[in-house]
Amino acid sequence: MTGVLITAEGVEGSGKSTQLLRLSEHLRRLGLPLVVSKEPGGTALGREIRTLLLTPHPSGEAWCAEAELMLFYADRAQHLAQVIRPAIEAGKIVLIDRFEDSTRAYQGASGVSEHVLDRLHELVVGRLKPHLTLLLDMDPEVSLQRVEVRNLSLGDEFKETRFDQAHLEFHRRVRARFLAIALGDPTRVAVVPARDAPEAVEQAIWHRVAPLLRNAGFAVE
Ligand code: TYD
Repeated sequence: MTGVLITAEGVEGSGKSTQLLRLSEHLRRLGLPLVVSKEPGGTALGREIRTLLLTPHPSGEAWCAEAELMLFYADRAQHLAQVIRPAIEAGKIVLIDRFEDSTRAYQGASGVSEHVLDRLHELVVGRLKPHLTLLLDMDPEVSLQRVEVRNLSLGDEFKETRFDQAHLEFHRRVRARFLAIALGDPTRVAVVPARDAPEAVEQAIWHRVAPLLRNAGFAVE
């Protein structure tokens, strides 16, 4: 049996990680062979790259969008070689928190051209395509507020800078890009409204995941 690749995408604060946890617990209870991972940071190298990418740069130097892009792809290349491809070949269910669509949405919104994105995709990912992508869709104005509540301990000054208009505009572009990807590939991408109660979101996700796994030969009742 060949494995199944499922990715989860969405703007920050959409509840993606919580829902993936619920889904993975459900699949584990069913005794299914499962690998759960995330990008960036699904390997030892990836965790170093993640630290580089997500912590403020001490030099204060602004990174150009292409440099940042290639760090995400370095993470992905290692992740594919070490985790994703071997698990799929071993017939497992692979759940990844963020993958290719995040690059297209975030780095695309940062100004990287489609042409560059296509070339790197071809080089690193090739023909591998998720069987299902769960897009947890939410207005960034709401989702970023959720993130703010989580980050309250960081203090008011930080809160204000993160919540400025430019920041919100960027996330609106990211969301629009995710939705455009879904529109262009509706058989792969399931848009899940993420503002509903967590139980309803969990149900909507299971509604998409269960038939896929059943068709792939996994014992899902
Ligand atoms: P993370 O803490 O994992 O955020 P979340 O819990 O919302 O997934 O941080 C990942 C950040 O990296 C997030 O802001 C999205 C961004 N990202 C990109 O810009 N490009 C990419 O290709 C990936 C995988 C993530």
